[in-house]
Amino acid sequence: MIKKGKKKKPDVVNKYTGDTWVYSKEVAEHFFNPQNILLNPPNGGLKNEFDAEGMVGSPACGDVMRVWLKIDKKNDKIKKFKWRTFGCASAIATTSILSVMVTERGGMKIDKALKLRPQDIVKRLGSLPDRKIHCSVLGDKALRAAINNWFKKSSQIDRIVEDENRIIDPQTKTTEKDIEEAVLEGATTLTAVQKRTKVGIGYSKCIPQVEELIRFYREKYFK
Ligand code: FES
Repeated sequence: MIKKGKKKKPDVVNKYTGDTWVYSKEVAEHFFNPQNILLNPPNGGLKNEFDAEGMVGSPACGDVMRVWLKIDKKNDKIKKFKWRTFGCASAIATTSILSVMVTERGGMKIDKALKLRPQDIVKRLGSLPDRKIHCSVLGDKALRAAINNWFKKSSQIDRIVEDENRIIDPQTKTTEKDIEEAVLEGATTLTAVQKRTKVGIGYSKCIPQVEELIRFYREKYFK
């Protein structure tokens, strides 16, 4: 579950529905001062500055995220992570903190970066309103797309794991694709998805990720 923000004056008030939400101090900091943003992306190829790029679109809102990586080939680490989006405040803040997490302390090992989940990003940010979780999935997916692009370009085909084949629950071997299919078949709650896939029953650690994926695909297919 995502931690709720402390009681403070809401940052956003929907004047039609009365809905409100609060952004954490860290979200505001990264939104107003985004780290590693690339305002002028390279045209016509990556030139020498980057080794790989990835792009994804959000099915929920149509926003697009692009990520460029420079790889430390000797140590199999991510040396640079630059990004650009026209997405919302939450997409900007979550990708900004993700870019810091991946490049701090000399860069993150690629295998570790592949294991990052949206809840790791949200945890580092303090909190994020529930309805904004899909925005954090955007940077996370674009990062994996860029890493896969690097694997293709450097002939490391055996290391490519497409998102749909990513194992979410190692005990039941449930993949992201299994969850997407369950949602498409009408299982739009955790209990309903568990009934079909048994995901998370013996491995509760994956439940927050499963909940985020259910929300993501619910928004994609059922708005
Ligand atoms: S990225 Fe589109 S609403 Fe957040």
